Amino acid sequence: MVPSPTSRLRFREMALEDLDAMARLLGDPVVMAYYPRPKTRPEALAWIEWNLRNYREHGYGLWIVDSDDGTFLGDCGLTWQRVNGLPRLEVGYHVLPEFQGRGLATEAALACRDFARDVLGNPELVAIIHPENQASLRVAEKLGMVQRDDDHGDSGLVRTVMAMEFRASRAEPPAPERDGADHSKRSSR
Ligand SMILES: CC(C)(COP(=O)(O)OP(=O)(O)OC[C@H]1O[C@@H](n2cnc3c(N)ncnc32)[C@H](O)[C@@H]1OP(=O)(O)O)[C@@H](O)C(=O)NCCC(=O)NCCS
Repeated sequence: MVPSPTSRLRFREMALEDLDAMARLLGDPVVMAYYPRPKTRPEALAWIEWNLRNYREHGYGLWIVDSDDGTFLGDCGLTWQRVNGLPRLEVGYHVLPEFQGRGLATEAALACRDFARDVLGNPELVAIIHPENQASLRVAEKLGMVQRDDDHGDSGLVRTVMAMEFRASRAEPPAPERDGADHSKRSSR
């Protein structure tokens, strides 16, 4: 179960064979600027294993994002995170520095947002972001999120919680009209 491809991107589940690519992504100091430090190769392996568990337990997790010609670009997907002690479904994204600034994170995250809403039927989605991570905050805004909260995690670091609720996708049927006039701009109640 992966999000549908977009015009430029393809999603697939991570595998142990992706360790070189994931170690390059998560070991990059630019990509990890808002994390405590870049991840080591064993930590990148643990990241893949965490996502393999996510696939088994939930059917989804962070996915590999490739271009349509199969070039590795980064990861993006949906994981359960604790926000002030409560589980919330989060969209996460990481793009290799050489592919940043082309709208790819936004394109991937939009597909994941739609997957969370339309396939999982989850009522909301969050993004937990370092308050100085302007690029990530902007991606969240472009998904339709607004700042809702701060997360005061165990580490003492405060994170901005961007969030959005999904409205019911089916519009209510309009009330029956008696006079045949166009009332489409009026409330049905
Ligand atoms: C966050 C990240 C995934 C964005 O990837 P990207 O593919 O470059 O994002 P997009 O091209 O879709 O750009 C999204 C928006 O952010 C804006 N943006 C990018 N860098 C920015 C910066 N340094 N400051 C302000 N806005 C920035 C872009 O201009 C764009 O907004 P616009 O369309 O209104 O111009 C990428 O910077 C990254 O991998 N960062 C490291 C990992 C990370 O922090 N992940 C998020 C963890 S919460």
